[in-house]
Amino acid sequence: MVAPAPASSAIPPESASAPGRASRIHVEHVSHGFDTPEGGFLPVLEDVTLDIAPGEFVALLGPSGCGKSTLLRLVAGLEPATQGTITQDGAPIVRPDPSRIVVFQDPTLFPWRTVWDNVALGPQAQGTLKQGKARVDAALQKVGLEGFAKSWPHQLSGGMAQRAALARALVNDPKLLILDEPLGKLDSLTRIEMQGELVSLWQKNGFSVLLVTHDVEEALFLAQRVVIFSPRPAKIVTEITIDSPYPRHRDDPKLTGRRREVLDQLGLAI
Ligand SMILES: Nc1ncnc2c1ncn2[C@@H]1O[C@H](COP(=O)(O)OP(=O)(O)OP(=O)(O)O)[C@@H](O)[C@H]1O
Ligand SMILES: [Mg+2]
Repeated sequence: MVAPAPASSAIPPESASAPGRASRIHVEHVSHGFDTPEGGFLPVLEDVTLDIAPGEFVALLGPSGCGKSTLLRLVAGLEPATQGTITQDGAPIVRPDPSRIVVFQDPTLFPWRTVWDNVALGPQAQGTLKQGKARVDAALQKVGLEGFAKSWPHQLSGGMAQRAALARALVNDPKLLILDEPLGKLDSLTRIEMQGELVSLWQKNGFSVLLVTHDVEEALFLAQRVVIFSPRPAKIVTEITIDSPYPRHRDDPKLTGRRREVLDQLGLAI
């Protein structure tokens, strides 16, 4: 699913001011939690400080339920943090914006719209579709779906549906792509193929990426930095820089060495 774009065609100043095609995201001492039905409070994030440089690819790893998706929702502007600040190129993030697009595990395409019309949702919501038709075609081409523009979602494979969801994000020319286990439901072969595609999309488009994954190999294959969280309430345990050049090779001994380090930090080494 793609985070809703504001209905207004006006671009909020927070994105208009950002230079270039990639944003710097700064998460400063963010804590967050939820009120419980019993009248209590569930702390989910604890004092998280994280900086994502323009064009950087950062992966978040941590135990299930620790608060990773919650952090992504805060960065997307879908809800305000209980404490702390999150900025995009220095401006506080206070609402969703087409410059920061979320792609979730489920592609959630609208079944009553063709692939082309699904990808066109963002420009349509912003009132820019008339002049932006070529952008929709270009986004479909970027993910290799140009031949399926007129198809219906039910006619797509899982991998193709997720490619369509990526095209729906890319059509907005995001400065930050927020990915919440986007390949999590795909079979392993499609997953491997799409990991390579994600790297080349990132390299060609230059946006910053914040990716949540449960797959340690995926994080090491894709990201320049892996941030590891503790169990809930999530605190940053450590950050590991992966300086291997792209394209990466899965059997690169440097990456397999880092794998052990990451598993150790997650408390999963055997
Ligand atoms: N809107 C909400 N209201 C109340 N509790 C919530 C809400 N959203 C998340 N939570 C709680 O916050 C905690 C963290 O959830 P979150 O979805 O961020 O975890 P996660 O790290 O993404 O987990 P997973 O790896 O399984 O996807 C969970 O205990 C969850 O129940
Ligand atoms: Mg999650």
